[in-house]
Amino acid sequence: MALLQFPRGFLWGSATSAHQVEGNCDRNHWWDWEQEGLRAKPPHGFVADGSVSGIACDYFHRYDEDHALAASLGHRALRISIEWSRIEPEDGRFDPAAVDHYKRVCDSMIRHGLEPTLTLHHFTNPTWTQRRGGWENPEMIRWLSRFADFAIRELGDRARLWWTINEPTIAPILSYLTGVHPPCVRDHARALVVAKHVLLAHGAMYEAMKGAGPGSIRVGPVLQMPYFEPFDPNDTNDVAAAEEIDLLTTGYVMAGLREGILVAPVGRDELVPGLKGSADILGVNYYLRSLCREGQTGSLRRPDEPETLVDEMGWEIYPEGLYRSLVRAASVGCPVYVTENGMATLDDEQRARHLREHLERVWRAIRDGVNVAGYFYWSLIDNFEWAEGYARHFGLVACDRRTLERRPKPAASLYREVIAANALDTGS
Ligand code: FCB
Repeated sequence: MALLQFPRGFLWGSATSAHQVEGNCDRNHWWDWEQEGLRAKPPHGFVADGSVSGIACDYFHRYDEDHALAASLGHRALRISIEWSRIEPEDGRFDPAAVDHYKRVCDSMIRHGLEPTLTLHHFTNPTWTQRRGGWENPEMIRWLSRFADFAIRELGDRARLWWTINEPTIAPILSYLTGVHPPCVRDHARALVVAKHVLLAHGAMYEAMKGAGPGSIRVGPVLQMPYFEPFDPNDTNDVAAAEEIDLLTTGYVMAGLREGILVAPVGRDELVPGLKGSADILGVNYYLRSLCREGQTGSLRRPDEPETLVDEMGWEIYPEGLYRSLVRAASVGCPVYVTENGMATLDDEQRARHLREHLERVWRAIRDGVNVAGYFYWSLIDNFEWAEGYARHFGLVACDRRTLERRPKPAASLYREVIAANALDTGS
């Protein structure tokens, strides 16, 4: 039994993204794809459970109640995203009403004692950008840096921590390689072009925000950092398979941040002005371990290992991987935040166990010298889980799909106790 104390000022909260909770984000390429699915495959569409994002959790109208709820659950901060397609619904036309909305959202958080932390791009592209090629068009870099410049001028006084792009490598991998996210392309060469554009866009956004925003802001990207492990560590092919997928998921972005270059296969080691050091803070999203074997995809298990938890996503829950990702993230040389970590389950005993085991690893990383400055649970509330729809339950709070009524789950109380004590009691 031990009390694992977190550093003073450690930032505790939870995370959401606009498209997943706001409802009616109807000017972005996800919305368009969901609707196209209903036309192409009535009545079930493209999303696995036959849903579309639709009204989502109606956070757009219920944000103040949700902030009150998060505050009552002890949270000190929220990570949300602001929806580019609402703020800039057409090329170069910024909508003052949408900006005012996000000002009110931030002000509401602050009133409830929650620190707002804002992500500028969380998977969704405005329809007008997608019609012009989306991530395949290098103009995306200019469009995003213009949006970043605008957003920071308007909202820069309301938030300290800013995230440019959530998981830059999701677009190349899921939208252009495996083709499970729109525009559902499966083409290695095109994926590499997109991989390059997302990293350059991050660099351009960082530069724009640091140039136009108040000196107090801290800006960085949010990386997805699954823990890729060779199925057989003694098999050089498995080792190579793990390295290859890791490079495209995390490695090339980290190399860009650390050395300012575009490494192969995304580039040819060319220097990108402004990329080196374009992270005052680094976000780490961690969910799973993936065992890698040459020529095989999908969830592999080692027969000699004890059974681990698997969540509704089919993801293997592996707390040690969070420790390793945090140690690795420290090499970028700036404060690290766990910007997402959680488990999709209807069993809250599992959620509580997951939370304890992962927080223990965060604590251990801090003990071992990693500057971890905060932890954001994914998610505050059950929401629209992209291509999986509403059949995944990541929330600390349930959301009744018929009435949209919110109901905190048991693990939310455990989290509240941890936050109040700023410590994890491993005996509880
Ligand atoms: C991450 C996304 C987030 C959510 C979780 C489960 O990759 O950033 O929006 O879907 O996975």
